[in-house]
Amino acid sequence: MKRDLVSLEDLDRAALDRYLEMAAVVDACGPAEKAHRLDGRVLGVLFFEPSTRTRLSFETAMLRLGGGAVGFSEVATSSVAKGESLRDTVRTVERYADVLVIRHPREGAARVAAEASRIPVINAGDGSNQHPSQTLLDLYTLRRLFGGLEGLRIALVGDLKYSRTAHSLVQALARFRDIRCLLVSPPPLRLPDYVREGVAGQGVTFEETADLAPAIRTCDVLYVTRIQKERFPDLLEYEKVRHCYHLDASMLAAAPPHLRILHPLPRVDEIDPDVDPTEHARYFDQVGYGVVMRQAILLDLLGVAP
Ligand code: NCD
Repeated sequence: MKRDLVSLEDLDRAALDRYLEMAAVVDACGPAEKAHRLDGRVLGVLFFEPSTRTRLSFETAMLRLGGGAVGFSEVATSSVAKGESLRDTVRTVERYADVLVIRHPREGAARVAAEASRIPVINAGDGSNQHPSQTLLDLYTLRRLFGGLEGLRIALVGDLKYSRTAHSLVQALARFRDIRCLLVSPPPLRLPDYVREGVAGQGVTFEETADLAPAIRTCDVLYVTRIQKERFPDLLEYEKVRHCYHLDASMLAAAPPHLRILHPLPRVDEIDPDVDPTEHARYFDQVGYGVVMRQAILLDLLGVAP
């Protein structure tokens, strides 16, 4: 039976641990050792929304394992522009590829694609719903930085309403024990109740605030997100919150030395570039772990040992 990576809802703690272990094995392998693991395999890339890291890291992951990639990163250059349905696009590209990765503005689109497809489908972001491969690489980054996740106090900062990276991450963190989550957002961008209620009674406790200062002083991790301009139904509402947080190096004087700052990127102005040279900034290391984790995901879904 083919398997997909569509939502954190489908991944229990054992599945998360397995991906983390696989990524550690891939990470420890030299480039030559893994260069032929996926010889002759093809990744189909269906991107209906902009992307830099997710698409390029999936393609890099595949190329460095010996496989190749075909697809589109712009609707305008595919038959979607002629009115082709998502299902028909999937039924076509599955004839060319061994695994599909899809990004789409509509919530639930990846599930629809997975149901239509005979080959594994990876959700690279469906609207403001889910971004599971990002979450797996976020978990791997935390594990590399802290040795494990249990006991961490993590602040999720910014647009918690529309950020799919935050939604998936909350669901994942709930599978671990003793995680304290500080939700830092302006009131209109609070984490939706359905996400919070979905993890009630699991291993995570929440506190909520609009103020970034206590998070800097008391947390182990700041996971900062971009205000998701493209998801706002009304751009006037976006204008009201677009500059709500701007973390700069001077604010980090109050931080404990071990504080680590992550961001799925792209950033707009929520983290000043003067934070980049500090010991706290780890978002570009996080980018690098994206390739490792995506190699683990491709190997897993194609049934090849790491
Ligand atoms: C994120 C996304 O697309 O959800 N980017 C990414 O994949 N690294 C975050 C964002 O766009 O703000």
